[in-house]
Amino acid sequence: MLRIKILRYIPEKNEKYFEEYIIPKPMKVIDAIEYINARFDANISIRYYCKVGKCKSCFVLVNKKPVLACKKIVEKDCTIEPIGNPIKDFVHV
Ligand code: FES
Repeated sequence: MLRIKILRYIPEKNEKYFEEYIIPKPMKVIDAIEYINARFDANISIRYYCKVGKCKSCFVLVNKKPVLACKKIVEKDCTIEPIGNPIKDFVHV
């Protein structure tokens, strides 16, 4: 079991806050977000296209380090944040 902290940004409320989730096993960041959305109905927004490290659309910060969400495997408790100022969660214009 891994504890994941995610920085949310909800533009309608102009509010940033952390949410914590538990995922059952190590997995890629993008898969962890999809798991959390499916399991907890979290509605976390992230934009990605290729899921194989080519389009570079899925950069996020994991423990303050920039990584591709489709490549980085979460193997221990961590914090996931957007890079820069998103328009919602992890989505940029
Ligand atoms: S989805 Fe294309 S690089 Fe991650």
